Amino acid sequence: MFNLDVDPDLPTPELHRQLLQACDAVTAGERDGVANMANVAALMAAFLPHLNWAGFYRMVDGELVLGPFAGRPACIRIPLGQGVCGAAAATGETQLVKDVHAFPGHIACDAASRSELVVPIMRKGQVIAVIDLDSPQLARFTAEDAAGIEALARFLADRI
Ligand code: SME
Repeated sequence: MFNLDVDPDLPTPELHRQLLQACDAVTAGERDGVANMANVAALMAAFLPHLNWAGFYRMVDGELVLGPFAGRPACIRIPLGQGVCGAAAATGETQLVKDVHAFPGHIACDAASRSELVVPIMRKGQVIAVIDLDSPQLARFTAEDAAGIEALARFLADRI
């Protein structure tokens, strides 16, 4: 269905451009948000190297609830303000954490995780979900990754 022969050595902005293009292709014309998040989680895991978890938490009744993902089973509910995801949801701001062990309150779903990138998805000024990426590598994520995932989050606001 899609060419997933991703070249992990591509420059990061180009990798994110191709990821966004693939996410557009898989979600176009589909109005079920869960189905779209599931395919986007699979694409993030396929396009972005050195991840051990890629997926979504959705804002449900004032707390984050686990959504579609690729990776090991994870914590189901995260209160606002707790952990990296809860910080992103509470502030509406991207959290780029180079060393999760140095982040106060980090929630360790997978002990292998060393760095994390969490980007809120906003609709009409409200956080409706967050994209969460985890890596077993220290300092895996750069400002270019944050910019790429922020573009994806803006794009997905109307498709989830
Ligand atoms: N580490 C996250 C929890 C979610 S898992 O990584 C999938 C956090 O601190 O919010």
